[in-house]
Amino acid sequence: MKNKFEAVIFDLDGVITDTAEYHYLAWKQLSEELGIPLDREFNEKLKGISRMESLEIILAHGDRQNDFTQQEKEELATKKNAYYVELIKQITPDDLLPGILAFLKELKEAQIKIAMASMSKNAFTVTNSLGVMEYFDHIVDAATVAKSKPDPEVFLKAAEAISVSPENCIGIEDAAAGVTAIHDAGMYSIGIGDEKTLGHANTVLQSTEQLDLKTITQLYQTSK
Ligand code: BG6
Ligand code: MG
Repeated sequence: MKNKFEAVIFDLDGVITDTAEYHYLAWKQLSEELGIPLDREFNEKLKGISRMESLEIILAHGDRQNDFTQQEKEELATKKNAYYVELIKQITPDDLLPGILAFLKELKEAQIKIAMASMSKNAFTVTNSLGVMEYFDHIVDAATVAKSKPDPEVFLKAAEAISVSPENCIGIEDAAAGVTAIHDAGMYSIGIGDEKTLGHANTVLQSTEQLDLKTITQLYQTSK
């Protein structure tokens, strides 16, 4: 049996709060303006992916990848972000997903380190609005990483910043690309959501409500 883990590294959008939905709504608004259809199923491909890479995926989906200059693409990405920023203005601590606050408190009490690995440039704003900044020993956001998930860089940076080796970390993700990033970082992965998209995680939980110290300690300690 393994020793106890030393840190939990959280994804933000779709794990701590339901901003995955706001990203979807903002992309949908932009893609409708471009005449490109976007549904929830396709949106799974965008979860965990950086803003510019998401735009490229959407444009390719509509076969419009060669229709815009780099400057125009940047303007499109800025427009999507403006829609998104409008939506996140409403965020308050009430928007924490079920069980997250209790779980953060439990981890703090047990002196387990807490970090965030997010591909969003809005990560600090959202975390602030949720009122949970004080729980995080370190936050890595998109501003400081070169490669988007599924690359493990963002998780590895978070582990390094809190001085915990990756094998002693648990990563929590709602995105398929995020689960791959956790795996490739050499961490234990918990997927939150659908087994169909997150089947490659070490464990899949349907809801954040199921996250508690006892459960994840058992899962981690009995894993290989
Ligand atoms: C990730 C989301 O957390 O951040 C993606 O899962 C999003 O959907 C990405 O595209 C980038 O976010 P932002 O806020 O920098 O546009
Ligand atoms: Mg996410």
